[in-house]
Amino acid sequence: MTKSEPDPALLALFERIDRACGLGCDGYKQSCLRRRLAVRMRACGVSTYDEYAAVLDEDATEYGRLLEAITINVTKFYRNAETWGVLRDKVLPELWEARDGRVRCWSAGCASGEEPYTLSILLLDLARSSGTSADNARIDATDLDGAVLARAREALYRPTAFDEMPATLTKRYVTGSDSRTVVPEVKSLVRFQRHAVLRDPAPAPPSDLILCRHVVIYFDRPTQEQLFQRFVDALVPGGYLVLGKVETLVGDVRTQLVIEDTRERVYRRP
Ligand SMILES: C[S@@+](CC[C@H](N)C(=O)[O-])C[C@H]1O[C@@H](n2cnc3c(N)ncnc32)[C@H](O)[C@@H]1O
Repeated sequence: MTKSEPDPALLALFERIDRACGLGCDGYKQSCLRRRLAVRMRACGVSTYDEYAAVLDEDATEYGRLLEAITINVTKFYRNAETWGVLRDKVLPELWEARDGRVRCWSAGCASGEEPYTLSILLLDLARSSGTSADNARIDATDLDGAVLARAREALYRPTAFDEMPATLTKRYVTGSDSRTVVPEVKSLVRFQRHAVLRDPAPAPPSDLILCRHVVIYFDRPTQEQLFQRFVDALVPGGYLVLGKVETLVGDVRTQLVIEDTRERVYRRP
């Protein structure tokens, strides 16, 4: 079956899932989505889409297990250190100076919080080294999955979650031994919010920096193009979009952004 020959039972199931979770099933790469759906169907002992719909009707907690199977939540502090290097050495100092510390960031698809907390650590460190305060900086951290957001708010991590982070930063901003957490100042800059990136409006007001990494790869090309346009519209002039190593900017939106770092896929709205 392709997108041009839709199975009505599958379409009805997608609609049900979209209504309940805001996933936007139609925008995902279909083969991948159907593989993950099949995993949950097998786990529930059903073999048709209608039967699985009945399972969802009977047990709403199955939506959570389905979301977990569909969305990949893997993340780390300082994941892909080179990308953070560009943020630390170029993007954040420039924004900090231009906005006088009133930097507004959006981590879209933040999973369990490692990405927005890393950003917060870099902003705090910038404030520390420039003798200013980070009180006016803010990070909106959003994700579709309520279970990962609960873990993000709790902010308890295994020591290995910090493997990629420079030791000086871990020493300054992380506490605990077996189970570690970030210091309260790091948490204070971040606001977590449940948000379906293909459906919900961007956090207001517009952002100086949007970080969206390891999220867009799961969407089909037309959906990627629409999402990139939403990101551009959600940036202030002079604001940055950071996609990192994996995602590539596609579509007309490329004419609306200037590339600032090719390897780390850092773009700027003129
Ligand atoms: C692999 S994690 C990326 C975490 C972090 N950005 C990083 O690069 O380490 C992908 C996240 O995107 C979220 N996600 C997937 N589809 C989404 C959607 N439609 N709306 C919002 N978040 C979504 C998942 O729940 C998951 O937490």
